[in-house]
Amino acid sequence: MRVLSGIQPTGRFHWGNYFGAIRQYIDLQHGNEAYYFIADLHALTTVRDPKQLRQNTLDAALDLLALGLEPEHAILFRQSDVPEVSELCWLLMTGTPMSMLENCHAYKDKMQKGLPAGAGLFTYPVLMAADILAYDSQIVPVGADQVQHIEVTRDLAGSFNHTYGETFVLPKAQTLDASAKVPGTDGEKMSKSYNNTLELFEEPKAMRKKIMRIVTDARPMEEPKEPEGDHLYQLYSLFANESERETMAAMYRKGGFGYGDVKKALADAAERYFAEPRARREELAAKPERVVEILADGASRARKKAAETLRRAQTNCGLRP
Ligand code: TYM
Repeated sequence: MRVLSGIQPTGRFHWGNYFGAIRQYIDLQHGNEAYYFIADLHALTTVRDPKQLRQNTLDAALDLLALGLEPEHAILFRQSDVPEVSELCWLLMTGTPMSMLENCHAYKDKMQKGLPAGAGLFTYPVLMAADILAYDSQIVPVGADQVQHIEVTRDLAGSFNHTYGETFVLPKAQTLDASAKVPGTDGEKMSKSYNNTLELFEEPKAMRKKIMRIVTDARPMEEPKEPEGDHLYQLYSLFANESERETMAAMYRKGGFGYGDVKKALADAAERYFAEPRARREELAAKPERVVEILADGASRARKKAAETLRRAQTNCGLRP
């Protein structure tokens, strides 16, 4: 299968990014043709500081490699290193109904809150469709919040194929049941824009502090509690194996425990889980030239594939003989 996904360098990655998406990237790099990119063009819709964008992009590459992405198995590159995608975006844009984009949630949410939205945010899903279609992607591993965009991609591809003949492969979103929507410290979806994130490579002490501040209800200790639907339990479950999860669930149902104990168990588990990637990241950060090399190599491989698809689309729609 051809697998592709992208992630924005808008800040340091959080548990939602990892358990919803990155973990899938790592699993799927084996036995598939995998393309993963840092979506710097998408990030331009929010990051306006050039120095920050460069730093975020390098951090994103370091994080992905430290977490287990292997350049021998997956093609890792920067979105903007493949200009063919931006060209393809225009071809798709000419066939995109405004109403389809007006329905997409990132734009709709902003409008509903009365916030100003740029054309970049409005047309964001079309660039995402170009990202996906450029590599003839079949599987797109993502969190639940991106599924709508993959539906848009399928619609745009289907309509292009209908108008101009078979051109694009229709992709499918792939989410993980247990972690398609990881909650943040306040119980809402974990997201940078909600300021409720727990970052992957946060200093252990700072991370512990944040975990201790996770919002819980004020029910008395003695009262039995239902674990399902409790965001602290959900976060703990990300790190726990089945028997640890069952023990914790039984403790909830029995009552007589403090949320502080759960938070401590969560902090210990998270610290253990990320210890190895953290060490690997430090090693990699000392060799930034290696990261530059990996991204350049990824870009040249990705470009080759995207150029073929772009040429096919240009021919089919009459731009080329
Ligand atoms: P981005 O950068 O917002 O998020 C990267 C990935 O992390 C997932 N994710 C979550 N999963 C579970 N729980 C959460 N709380 C959570 N928060 C984030 C996202 O679903 C995503 O998979 N538009 C994309 C980037 C992109 C892309 C693409 C993705 C650009 N082109 C082509 C796939 C294919 C985005 O903003 O993701």
